[in-house]
Amino acid sequence: MATILDGKIVAETIQAGLVQEIASCKARTGRVPGLDVIIVGSDPASQAYVKSKEKLAQKLGLRSSLIELPASATDSELLATITRLNDDPQTDAILVQLPLPAGLDTWRALDAIAPGKDVDCFNPVSQGMILLNRSAIFPCTPAGILRILDHYSLDIAGLNAAVIGRSFIVGKPMSLMLSNRHATVTLCHSKARDLERVLRQADIIVAAIGKPGFVTPAMVKPGAILIDVGINHVADGALIESFHYEPWRTSFAKKGFALVGDIHPGAFNASSYYTPVPGGVGALTPTMLMVNTLELFKQRLHA
Ligand code: GUN
Repeated sequence: MATILDGKIVAETIQAGLVQEIASCKARTGRVPGLDVIIVGSDPASQAYVKSKEKLAQKLGLRSSLIELPASATDSELLATITRLNDDPQTDAILVQLPLPAGLDTWRALDAIAPGKDVDCFNPVSQGMILLNRSAIFPCTPAGILRILDHYSLDIAGLNAAVIGRSFIVGKPMSLMLSNRHATVTLCHSKARDLERVLRQADIIVAAIGKPGFVTPAMVKPGAILIDVGINHVADGALIESFHYEPWRTSFAKKGFALVGDIHPGAFNASSYYTPVPGGVGALTPTMLMVNTLELFKQRLHA
């Protein structure tokens, strides 16, 4: 029987530690860590994400603020906001919500964030520090995945790992972080040839490709660890039905859509451990943002 890797339990465990550490930081330094989130435009999914981040920050006792710029904002307005936060001693962590509206230069914005306040690790300096295994913080999604593996005492040293998807948000840093933990890593993507053969050799698969049920049972080695980063909004009832997976069926029946992972649930039975969607990797990501905020605060204040 495969074991479910429960992201909610891991998140709750981390949050309990954070509450204590934040209170102790306040006692030592007289202030609490502060996260400032910049959102440009009114994309509903992005708005929902940033609101949930604010709520979690409040729950844990962090200071947080949301800076909303109109979709018509220019690169220089965005850069001016980032520069102001770089210079503000009350700001420990800066997050620019992605994607930015078309017409804005994402790289210019990410380049402008001071590396010491770069809570996402999306700045080129931060990405370089990950490459060199010299960073104290890591992008939230891959960092959450390592926390899940740690919580369940899964040692990946020496294992064959396959990461599918090579974004700078998940796949690329994930591949480096797994390599830093002594896995033998293959970084796969949509153009990979004979992906099935590569995946069948993997002891752990991290799927972050954004395609519902992309990793089929035939692609999975028996006993593999399956980590699903996919959060695909699917409203096609026939597609959902084809997965024969109760949580997605129930969600579709209630809401008319389901958040579907990149891994076909038919593969779960043959695996040793797997993260469900929802309730797996996604349940950790906002918590890791708070972990990073606290860490940046401690670095900056030598606290
Ligand atoms: N949009 C989707 N994921 C992320 C993330 O991890 N950080 C930011 N800033 N924007 C995102």
